[in-house]
Amino acid sequence: MNILLNPGPVVLSKRVREALLKPDLCHRELEFIELQNKIRNNLLNIYKLPAEKWAAVVFTGSGTSAMESMITSLVPIHTKLLIIENGVYGERLTKIAKIHDIDHVVLHHEWGEEINLTNLNNELQYHKEISHIAVVHHETTTGCLNNIEKIANICKKHKNISLLVDAVSSFGAEELKFEKWNIAACASTANKCLHGVPGVSFVITNRNAISSMAATSARTLYLNLIDYLDAQDNNKTPFTQSIQTFYALDEALEELIELGGWENRQKKYRSLMDLVRREFENLKINPCLNRDKSSCVLNSFYLPEGISYQKLHDELKKEGFIIYAGQGGLKKSFFRISCMGDILEDDIKRFILVIKKILKN
Ligand SMILES: Cc1ncc(COP(=O)(O)O)c(C=O)c1O
Repeated sequence: MNILLNPGPVVLSKRVREALLKPDLCHRELEFIELQNKIRNNLLNIYKLPAEKWAAVVFTGSGTSAMESMITSLVPIHTKLLIIENGVYGERLTKIAKIHDIDHVVLHHEWGEEINLTNLNNELQYHKEISHIAVVHHETTTGCLNNIEKIANICKKHKNISLLVDAVSSFGAEELKFEKWNIAACASTANKCLHGVPGVSFVITNRNAISSMAATSARTLYLNLIDYLDAQDNNKTPFTQSIQTFYALDEALEELIELGGWENRQKKYRSLMDLVRREFENLKINPCLNRDKSSCVLNSFYLPEGISYQKLHDELKKEGFIIYAGQGGLKKSFFRISCMGDILEDDIKRFILVIKKILKN
């Protein structure tokens, strides 16, 4: 079986894989509603969010569906959205705003560049109609962990602008201070730091953010967060859900609880990533970002001299390891390694041995 070092889908644990084989179930039956409610509660519990103020809305779809649901459902019609870009997924947020004709401004940065807080402050000063900022927490393009706390502090100076956070590749392994950072909502998925299967994504939303949308008409049918929340709060689901992937997510959440929560998952990822960074340093494979700017989930590295990504990928694949290319123009110069999923230190040690062998030849 391959060891996936790409940023999701992840190597599944035995018990999550086995959960996929649970009995057939109709999404209109009580058993499914109990499963859906349990998942919704456990998602809130990861960050100790009280259910009176916060809600988890769970959909069938990949992470992008949660991003699209959040952006289209939570920006009121007469206000403006500011989107921060410093990678592919920030740029995807802009694409979503454009497609749905949501009034927005963009604060653009090169991929991996640190967010310019002075420019952010200036934009907020100039565009008084901005009500929300959309930002990616962990930009998987480069492994850059954006400093949401600093952004939130600036927002507080500007009539408490709230945040819409893409936490697709950070939820469950990085710190998210929902209340302190004035997060209106965050979007994420089952198949990254939660170790579930692709097919379920979710939005964690502040209930006030939903009630302030009463005057704005729906921009989509399938991804309408307000309708979804209403249905799920009333023990229903608006559309057919992907039952087996719900079973897997439920099991994966149980596993995270038994591990002791997101802090322990972070520790595990950090220790595996540190091992990779240390060994790579000896091999003169340099990281693209300093450790303190990188997430614990994924780091990017310059390709070793004289070896193309394709060759490195193909040689590693022959030995059962899947690495991930850089996106767009970065494909030629760097590659990415993620330590998500049911991966052990021994897997990483074997991976390093294979890399050493490839570099020798
Ligand atoms: C930060 C971030 N946002 C959004 C997405 C999109 O998720 P999906 O491919 O599941 O739609 C990804 C996928 O890697 C991601 O890393």
